[in-house]
Amino acid sequence: MKPRAEIVQFSIHSDDRGCLIALEGGRDIPFEVRRVYYIYGTRSDMPRGFHAHKHLKQMLVAVSGSVTVSCEFGATKERFLLDSPSRGLLLEGLIWREMHDFSPDCVLMVFASEHYREEDYIRDYNVFRQEQGV
Ligand code: TYD
Repeated sequence: MKPRAEIVQFSIHSDDRGCLIALEGGRDIPFEVRRVYYIYGTRSDMPRGFHAHKHLKQMLVAVSGSVTVSCEFGATKERFLLDSPSRGLLLEGLIWREMHDFSPDCVLMVFASEHYREEDYIRDYNVFRQEQGV
């Protein structure tokens, strides 16, 4: 799977009452969703992540607050600011990811293509680099 890290804009159903966003697996999220988890109660000086996934696909959405996600693959290093419930970050393939600068009100929701499996993680940066042949 070729590494891919890109922002996806979701459709907003907006009226006088407020906004609604619907995310359907296989449509708005380009894979079947097998797991959803969310991260909250974070601290701005406590980054998270620091791993890559071998097979997992993910869509990250800051449904509240903001967070910066740093992604690295090959020679590419990119930082994505997630600060809207209407935008997601799609991650596929072998990507080293770190989450920094959580706002106090951040709720980061993650849609994932597989159930949790520790064997899918690469948590050692040097192993990640070796896997890429760098
Ligand atoms: P961890 O991988 O450290 O979180 P992050 O991606 O933010 O670095 O996960 C924290 C704990 O939660 C760890 O004990 C594993 C557990 N966990 C699950 O049980 N299921 C899950 O789906 C995830 C993502 C984590």
